[in-house]
Amino acid sequence: MKTLIYLVLALAAITLPVFGQRNASMRIYPTQGSQQISKHIYGHFAEHLGTCIYGGLWVGPDSDIPNTKGYRNDVLEALKKLQIPNLRWPGGCFADEYHWMDGIGPLSDRPKMVNNNWGGTIEDNSFGTHEFLNLCELLGCEPYVSANVGSGNVEEMAKWVEYITSEGDSPMARLRRQNGREKAWKVKFWGVGNESWGCGGSMRPEYYADLYRRYATYCRNYDGNRLFKIASGASDYDYNWTEVLMKNVGNRMDGLSLHYYTVTGWSGSKGSATDFNADDYYWTMGKCLEIEDVIQKHIAIMDKYDPDKKVGLMLDEWGTWWDEEPGTINGHLFQQNTMRDAFVAALSLNLFHKYTNRLKMTNIAQIVNVLQSMILTNGNKMVLTPTYHIFEMFKVHQDATYLPMDLICDKLKVRDNREVPLISASASKNSNGNIHITLANVDNDKMNNISIDLQNVSIKTVNGRILTSPSINDHNTFENPNKVKPENFNGAKIEKGKLKVVLPAKSIVVLEIK
Ligand code: AHR
Repeated sequence: MKTLIYLVLALAAITLPVFGQRNASMRIYPTQGSQQISKHIYGHFAEHLGTCIYGGLWVGPDSDIPNTKGYRNDVLEALKKLQIPNLRWPGGCFADEYHWMDGIGPLSDRPKMVNNNWGGTIEDNSFGTHEFLNLCELLGCEPYVSANVGSGNVEEMAKWVEYITSEGDSPMARLRRQNGREKAWKVKFWGVGNESWGCGGSMRPEYYADLYRRYATYCRNYDGNRLFKIASGASDYDYNWTEVLMKNVGNRMDGLSLHYYTVTGWSGSKGSATDFNADDYYWTMGKCLEIEDVIQKHIAIMDKYDPDKKVGLMLDEWGTWWDEEPGTINGHLFQQNTMRDAFVAALSLNLFHKYTNRLKMTNIAQIVNVLQSMILTNGNKMVLTPTYHIFEMFKVHQDATYLPMDLICDKLKVRDNREVPLISASASKNSNGNIHITLANVDNDKMNNISIDLQNVSIKTVNGRILTSPSINDHNTFENPNKVKPENFNGAKIEKGKLKVVLPAKSIVVLEIK
């Protein structure tokens, strides 16, 4: 027996430096929450790009793939479980080439166009305004319509607002009725152009600011529908764009957008979505977390011009951007999604919660088959990605009260001089008084023992779910769709009023405390 114990101890001593463990501690302040995590932080984005719309969300009513009035049943059912708060459409870059009148009325009358931004694919306009807004109704989410400023005109945008939201006997409301929709839709969120510094018109901020003011003037509030107008904002580190917009537009806009992708660079290879090593993985975490500094700097500029925080920061594109999957169509941005992407989602959402007194919406790019998507489809097959599972696990934070916390954990120096804390965490309290904590152990090799002090909150029960997998490269395929999926988590215990959590290496957990 003694020999056996010795052997076990000796083995532990040899393996610990590699498969060892770390410790972390957290203090959560359950009575000090003052800001709400808007559900819109969990927003999505659907662009006419690759197979996001056609094949992914929409197959048309005549398809052999089971569908409801043209929308794929399997995708609809999966998306409903995410409690999607809002869906941005039709782009992206596509939005500034899209002419909405081409996508209404009888199918046979709808003209075709070339989707110049995305592989030169022919767009037949069979998915248009009605198809999008009806999808939002099926999903129970708010539409976010991004209008064409780059190649459109003021009249076109003004008429789109009227067509969708006017109840009266106006010309556009009559046209809508003629096309089969009696009642106006309620659409609050309107984007006035997209990436106007680039694919949306290559403009300078001073010029766009004036153009925004002009377009916004003619977008009216019809019949109780109050517009929330979102100006096209900066990319990443372009603080001057935010400065000029805040100075020249200010409270004429309700929101100002920001785009930030976790990407290695815009030219050359962005790296494989699935074939990467631990060094690449940690680099990705560093690049993903750098968004915090970017958000803080844009917020500091906004605070200078708008101390009462009337203008929301809308991060309406974010996520990972890898090389397209080999064998897929160039320009369609179809990429796989691994545990690494799940970490990007978890770390991003955890940090977004901190800034929700200014950050009012975020939209991961994109919902199906494009970039860091929730779902991948191929013909009649569908898989849920690891990122989908994070959005499903983290949805408990939607509209809950953000709880401040202190966190002490080890950090790792990674490539490009960035530093990555090895634990990511966030906590919130919902309207029933239940506390949810989302935790990620970023460490690829070591488990982490976390001690959580909830400041005398009496804990009756703690339940959890975990997403983990033997390798950070693991992902779901059409052949093996359930390789990565959440399981019940039994690693949280209550000890002397504190929560002791043992997080396995490379794992993401959600805890519910009652
Ligand atoms: O999400 C893909 C593209 O990235 C969008 O169309 C554009 O806005 C951004 O550059």
